[in-house]
Amino acid sequence: MEVVITDHPEQVMADIITGAVRGGATTLGLATGSSPLPTYRELIRRHREEGLSFAGVDAVLLDEYVGLPPTHPESYARFIRDNFTDHIDIGEVYSPDGMAPDSRIAADAYDALIGEVGPVDVQILGIGSNGHIGFNEPSSSLTSRTRIKTLTEKTRRDNARFFDDDLDQVPFHVITQGLGTICDARHLALVATGEGKAAAIAATVEGPLSASCPASILQWHPRATIVVDEAAASKLRDADYYRYVYTNKPENQAGH
Ligand code: F6R
Repeated sequence: MEVVITDHPEQVMADIITGAVRGGATTLGLATGSSPLPTYRELIRRHREEGLSFAGVDAVLLDEYVGLPPTHPESYARFIRDNFTDHIDIGEVYSPDGMAPDSRIAADAYDALIGEVGPVDVQILGIGSNGHIGFNEPSSSLTSRTRIKTLTEKTRRDNARFFDDDLDQVPFHVITQGLGTICDARHLALVATGEGKAAAIAATVEGPLSASCPASILQWHPRATIVVDEAAASKLRDADYYRYVYTNKPENQAGH
């Protein structure tokens, strides 16, 4: 794992995506939620002002709420269009079908589709305050595939801010890529900012590999980058070591 502590997480994340796209990446994995928004804004700026092109690149989303149509303002299919993909020249953008009559069939179909359009070159990730990635809540199988999950009460409360602070509007169920599906990506790039993520980041980087903190699966992946601001890094025991490693990073280092 590489841990990058920076005042500008969006620049480091945008550099990772820019490098991948300019290097021939054909599939990006996109997260929704607030954490990657500054990264998406920076990539849109680079597209408009610096000629960064996503032509020939397709994208897959991590997850979708069950019961929200892709036109719903808080569906992740709509969120990613409004905040990122409608503003760049990317190709197809795939997401799980939250309206499918049978979510199990839809989840299996989405996992198979990722296998066809993938492997994902770079998977962008956020992290929940309870350590979830995608919507793999604590106790998720570390080798899980795309499936329906029930959100914890904490995640529903965390996400109520997107639903007019009305908990009753937040769906209970989601279709999410599993931890095994996510780990099929060649490079995992997780971004977290703010004090509220500090405990989850410490558990991810320095805790045991455990289903209690699903993001700790990044310890198992051959190429994982964790990009955090000072607040999100504030509970990391070995923060100085991560700074030292990043400052002295060899030019040709890929895996970590
Ligand atoms: C969303 C997703 C979630 C979020 C996480 C953090 O596609 O996969 O894991 O990344 O809930 O959400 P924010 O960034 O809003 O704090």
